[in-house]
Amino acid sequence: MNLLIRKMTLDDLEQVTAIDQLSFSLPWPPRSFQFEVTDNPASRNWVAEMEGQTVGLLVAWLIVDEIHIATFAVHPNFRRQKIGEQLLAHALKSASAEGALKSFLEVRASNHAAREMYRKFGYLEDGIRKGYYKDNGEDAILMTLERIRL
Ligand SMILES: CC(C)(COP(=O)(O)OP(=O)(O)OC[C@H]1O[C@@H](n2cnc3c(N)ncnc32)[C@H](O)[C@@H]1OP(=O)(O)O)[C@@H](O)C(=O)NCCC(=O)NCCS
Repeated sequence: MNLLIRKMTLDDLEQVTAIDQLSFSLPWPPRSFQFEVTDNPASRNWVAEMEGQTVGLLVAWLIVDEIHIATFAVHPNFRRQKIGEQLLAHALKSASAEGALKSFLEVRASNHAAREMYRKFGYLEDGIRKGYYKDNGEDAILMTLERIRL
């Protein structure tokens, strides 16, 4: 099936918010996505679209030579089809073209699917933020990709 990765627009916000809510126990308020699209100059926002449907989202912040993955999800009905992999690769490649050399993120300790995907990309686990997530006090694992190579 044809997958298109493109910049997020205001027209995507309804579907983006729905995917976010299906994917996280602490979803972002819808106005946060709006802010990222319209008001945050550091923000690099992507969606994956399949046959007219938004099936994935990724929000990242480009700060000098670092790209911080802020949130990233694939609709539950479309997982394990390499959509996440393609979204992340696209975001990293695009950031690299803008001068990003490294990337970092936080991930829930229990999120083995995401940790596995990041490891595949070369991210290393290099820190823990104890009790970072407010809903259940779970730790965040900090992961860093020292050199973006795609
Ligand atoms: C993490 C997430 C974005 C992955 O998206 P996806 O499109 O399903 O992932 P892909 O099909 O591209 O998988 C790429 C690789 O990631 C790993 N992976 C993905 N899902 C996995 C799972 N459920 N269990 C173990 N490994 C998994 C595998 O290594 C996989 O490669 P493989 O299929 O060759 O084994 C998706 O599971 C998701 O939206 N989860 C909820 C939100 C979330 O946790 N976001 C990340 C926050 S830090």
